Amino acid sequence: MTNLTGTNVLLGISGGIAAYKSAELTRLFIKQNANVRVCMTQSAIEFITPLTLQALSGNPVHTDLFDVEAEAAMGHIELAKWADIIVVAPATANTIAKIAHGRADNLLTTLILASKAKLYIAPAMNQAMWANPQTTANIKQLEQNKISLLGPDAGEQACGDIGLGRMLEPAEIVDQIIAESTATPSLQGVSVLITAGPTREALDPVRYLTNRSSGKMGYAIAEAAKKQGAQVTLVSGPVHLDTPANIETIDVESAQEMFSAVSKHAKQADIFIACAAVADFSPATTSNNKIKKNSDTETLELTLTKNPDILAETSHAHPNLFTVGFAAETTDLEKYAKGKLISKKLNMIAANKVGKNQGFDKDDNALLVLWEGGKCTLPLTSKKHLSQQLVQLISEHFEIYKHHLPSNTHDEQDV
Ligand code: PMT
Repeated sequence: MTNLTGTNVLLGISGGIAAYKSAELTRLFIKQNANVRVCMTQSAIEFITPLTLQALSGNPVHTDLFDVEAEAAMGHIELAKWADIIVVAPATANTIAKIAHGRADNLLTTLILASKAKLYIAPAMNQAMWANPQTTANIKQLEQNKISLLGPDAGEQACGDIGLGRMLEPAEIVDQIIAESTATPSLQGVSVLITAGPTREALDPVRYLTNRSSGKMGYAIAEAAKKQGAQVTLVSGPVHLDTPANIETIDVESAQEMFSAVSKHAKQADIFIACAAVADFSPATTSNNKIKKNSDTETLELTLTKNPDILAETSHAHPNLFTVGFAAETTDLEKYAKGKLISKKLNMIAANKVGKNQGFDKDDNALLVLWEGGKCTLPLTSKKHLSQQLVQLISEHFEIYKHHLPSNTHDEQDV
């Protein structure tokens, strides 16, 4: 007996080079004792033959909406009802666009529209197509429709480009489906406070000091924690991202404002994840009026004062809070991260290399996660997928940690 025993899996294959991987995917589903039926688009047939999929799945392959013989054997509505889950792998940009807009112009998209089965999409496309705002909007639509995305992965593509858009490996697709279908949310009832994005430190009414943080990593962590059942509070610096649905989001600008919001909410939190790139210093004075150019001098001196270290102050003020810091380093990643883990009294730290097109304002990232006596590498992948892995790791460590806490751990005396 396996986790997918008896599950009716309808595997949809659309026309991309990754279609060859669907043979292995079919084999893995069968190995899990799932019942597999395959539906291929006309373009998919250009990449892999229906005969291969028929041999592996043990069932005739469905390709045509108007195939009288196939309809007589198992009509498309019947097939849509038969499926417990539908997995589209590879899902091309075109098929994703059709699903996002409710089109039904081939057998696969018709089945999807006609089915109530849980839908999984494993995108596979060129990195520029993946980054195209139209695809981003389509993906957002799928997420709003509660469709589960599997990947994509980052790396070298068939066309030679490097970036996000590779289909996840078949084993990873199966693992993720099993994890999603069997897991009870690991952070159910847990309150998670997260900081994200940069801070802005005003020089005058129109100028400020800031950094390149986009907020993508912190927002992805907030979404991943929410998905695991957590009650999430997100304290966000100024970013160009949409406010996530069903997540309490507090918008702040400066480090001082972020500190106030975190201090207010830390009392009720179980876990604090500090992903924001907080400015370490701010101008000692903020001019009420625009600073004027002085014709006599060629230089302008600024005096900066140290901002509160939000993470360190919070972990010291709330010793029972499970604190996860980030370390953004250009060199000696592990050494500096270890130093921050100890000096800021953290339970865990996620270190990432930054600069030279890494970390800040990118769609993908890699992390080295450290805790007392242990570490784990999370290789380069999309920030979304990486956040799911990080949140999983955090929830496992938090589970152990909370059993060592005295009962009633929230700092009620401070309220
Ligand atoms: O936002 P993105 O474009 O997606 O980029 C993600 C990221 C690179 C910003 C993110 O992954 C990351 O590394 N965030 C932490 C950035 C940072 O400020 O690192 P640091 O090594 O300088 O700080 C160490 C830790 O202390 C961090 O958890 C930081 O949030 C916290 N800190 C730092 C200074 C300060 N005054 N207050 C803090 O709380």
